[in-house]
Amino acid sequence: MRVPLIAAALVGVLAATAATAQTNVIQQRRAAMKAIGEQTDIGASMLKGQVPFDAAKAELIFATYKDKMVGFDKLFPPGSDKGETKATAAVWSDRAGFDAAIAKFEKAVADNAGKATTADGFKAAFTAVAENCRACHQSFKSR
Ligand code: HEC
Repeated sequence: MRVPLIAAALVGVLAATAATAQTNVIQQRRAAMKAIGEQTDIGASMLKGQVPFDAAKAELIFATYKDKMVGFDKLFPPGSDKGETKATAAVWSDRAGFDAAIAKFEKAVADNAGKATTADGFKAAFTAVAENCRACHQSFKSR
């Protein structure tokens, strides 16, 4: 009678481990988005002229966009739709669409990063990339 008990205990441990792993990916993807969001706030302030244009800050904004999207698609494994997440079911039901939204964002970042060296260049580059935040969130993030 002992073996089934141990097996049951093991299953319990494995389930708990899986739940922890899900929590971690949710935290990781939210942390990546939070970093992107913070840089975007800085960019928006520069765009509105609330703070002066700063080429180094502009570079960091685009570098953060690029870095934080590396492996972003891997942070949505099956089952991680449950928990403290605002990712919509569409991430899992329309994975091709989600991957396309990531690729579109990454392309916009790559195409525009080099243009953000002057105030005017930054405005155009930042606006072009920011459109992709809304586009992805509309389908894949709940409010
Ligand atoms: C390819 C899709 C995609 C793109 C592009 C994208 N996001 Fe997100 N974002 C998400 C998803 C999905 C979530 C929800 C993650 C979760 O809660 O598990 C999210 C969450 C967030 C959050 C909330 C983070 C938190 O604290 O939980 C912020 C802020 C954010 N995004 C900002 C941005 C900004 C700004 C941009 C553009 C510069 C952007 N995102 C581009 C998909 C995207």
